[in-house]
Amino acid sequence: MNGGALLQVRGLGKRFGGLQAVTDLDLDVHAGEILGVIGPNGAGKSTTFGMIAGAIAPSSGTVRFDGEPLDGLPTHAIAARGILRTFQHNKPFAGLSVRDNVMVGMHTRIGVPLWQVVAGTGAARRREREAQQRAEALIDFVGLGECRDTEVTNLSFGQGRLLEIARALAGEPRLMMFDEPAAGLTPAECERLAAIVRSIAARGIAVLLIEHDMRFLLQLAQRVAVLNFGVKIAEGTPAQIRVDPQVVAAYLGDMAGAGDA
Ligand SMILES: Nc1ncnc2c1ncn2[C@@H]1O[C@H](COP(=O)(O)OP(=O)(O)OP(=O)(O)O)[C@@H](O)[C@H]1O
Ligand SMILES: [Mg+2]
Repeated sequence: MNGGALLQVRGLGKRFGGLQAVTDLDLDVHAGEILGVIGPNGAGKSTTFGMIAGAIAPSSGTVRFDGEPLDGLPTHAIAARGILRTFQHNKPFAGLSVRDNVMVGMHTRIGVPLWQVVAGTGAARRREREAQQRAEALIDFVGLGECRDTEVTNLSFGQGRLLEIARALAGEPRLMMFDEPAAGLTPAECERLAAIVRSIAARGIAVLLIEHDMRFLLQLAQRVAVLNFGVKIAEGTPAQIRVDPQVVAAYLGDMAGAGDA
């Protein structure tokens, strides 16, 4: 990788009609690094994730991943390259169990043509078995081992969030994007989530993390980028961000001590 960042966002912009949601944004994320993204409501954080994932077409700029431009690629092609995300709202497949939801997340990766799966060829059966074992391991990894057979609409909100993470991991990400993963979680669930995010990064996966909960974010991120009205107004370590006058004025207010405890 020549020391270059795995994800390189350059001059990225998005205009929705008369609204400039994101302006001339540069971001670098390295393998194994956790980059936090903060900013007030409407700052352009989710729009940025949408553009990186290929769900929103940028109005300007480029996204390069592992040196390759992603311009114009559809979401499934970008996911296949290893960029996966969880959303601000959980989106499981209702009617299916936890296990089957994770299996669905895996199917883009099994690499066996559907006809072989249907016909039940030996190769297909073997790959399917391997996929099942990986699904079980991911379910244990996120701590849903007790409810692998539970139909997903019976999960608590926090369990649903953990399932989203397992489903994204099933796609074998090299970059994971989390959009406000701690929102709505209990303190105990937040702690579990923090441990999961840490061990994802420890596996060498690059992590982009949008989060309003400063205590949660600042303990995890190595660097933080701050957006305000679509513009990056600051970037630095959590220690630098906490005391940046522009950031404190725009966003943190009296939260400058958050995460110190
Ligand atoms: N599809 C869309 N059409 C028009 N405007 C949009 C669209 N999506 C987002 N916007 C606007 O773009 C701006 C940035 O929205 P975005 O969702 O990226 O903000 P955010 O930083 O994720 O905010 P939040 O913290 O509330 O989730 C907002 O003003 C929003 O209303
Ligand atoms: Mg958002």
